[in-house]
Amino acid sequence: GKVAVMFGGRSAEREVSLRSGQAVLSALLSAGVNAHGFDPAESELHQLVEQKFDRVLIMLHGRGGEDGSLQGALQQMNMPYTGTGVLGSALCMDKIRSKQVWQSLGLPTANYEIADKRDFNAANCSDIMSRLGDLVMVKPAQEGSSIGMAKVSNAQQLAAAIQQAFEYDDKVLLEQFIQGSEYTVSLLNGEALPSISMSTPRDFYDYEAKYQSNTTEYFCPSGLSEEQESALARLALDAFDAVAGSGWGRIDFMQDMLGQFYLLEANTVPGMTEKSLVPLAAKQAGLSFAQLSLAVLATAG
Ligand code: DAL
Ligand code: MG
Repeated sequence: GKVAVMFGGRSAEREVSLRSGQAVLSALLSAGVNAHGFDPAESELHQLVEQKFDRVLIMLHGRGGEDGSLQGALQQMNMPYTGTGVLGSALCMDKIRSKQVWQSLGLPTANYEIADKRDFNAANCSDIMSRLGDLVMVKPAQEGSSIGMAKVSNAQQLAAAIQQAFEYDDKVLLEQFIQGSEYTVSLLNGEALPSISMSTPRDFYDYEAKYQSNTTEYFCPSGLSEEQESALARLALDAFDAVAGSGWGRIDFMQDMLGQFYLLEANTVPGMTEKSLVPLAAKQAGLSFAQLSLAVLATAG
């Protein structure tokens, strides 16, 4: 069949998607798949039907590609697509809603509050700081790749960071910063791949640390004990299931100094760039980038 690899798009993560999509498209072409790039910022969706595509590999990050709206449109067109469906995509795009689901199921996630553009009052920032602790992460509810995020340590910085995050979303997550290390678990067809631990000399694992810097270190295997590794894998699978994820994805965590894990978020179209995490975990599990791309494609149906 004829495969459309969708990448590019109009979200703030367009550049990342271009890198992910090009990499996947080349891998599929090398593997002999009849694949073509399709950028929804340049072509309308009905062309998928007119150009007789049989299925779609979604490699769009962020709103308009990862948030359920595209998934719904493709479903209406009877066009099979990779990964998570409408409900899970919409839920995972929103860091606040996914935390609320996890919290309601007793899954561990850091303390948080919500800033809403409609009724935000900067005068509340010192109270928020005293409730959430010394360091707070400020995150637009529906963004990716750390876009619009900041780590703050006082009320004045908090107010400024919230205003900045409002540029990206009307709802902003204010989350207690967990001191410790960052981990991620990649999921493929109901199984967890080896965890990765990331470390950066920067203030946090931000856009530059993710895609531009050469100082970010990746550890895979991550160095967890066998027992911790399987507990983390279980937690990632449970968390993904709770937010209706399917096919493939990636769950991000913080681990505090006592070894306790906290869920940060679920990514339903994780990055597939040369610096991205899922390809690294797959490699550790013995899966080449091409094999991984084929496995992702096979989730369409
Ligand atoms: N949102 C980026 C692409 C990631 O999760 O890898
Ligand atoms: Mg993300």
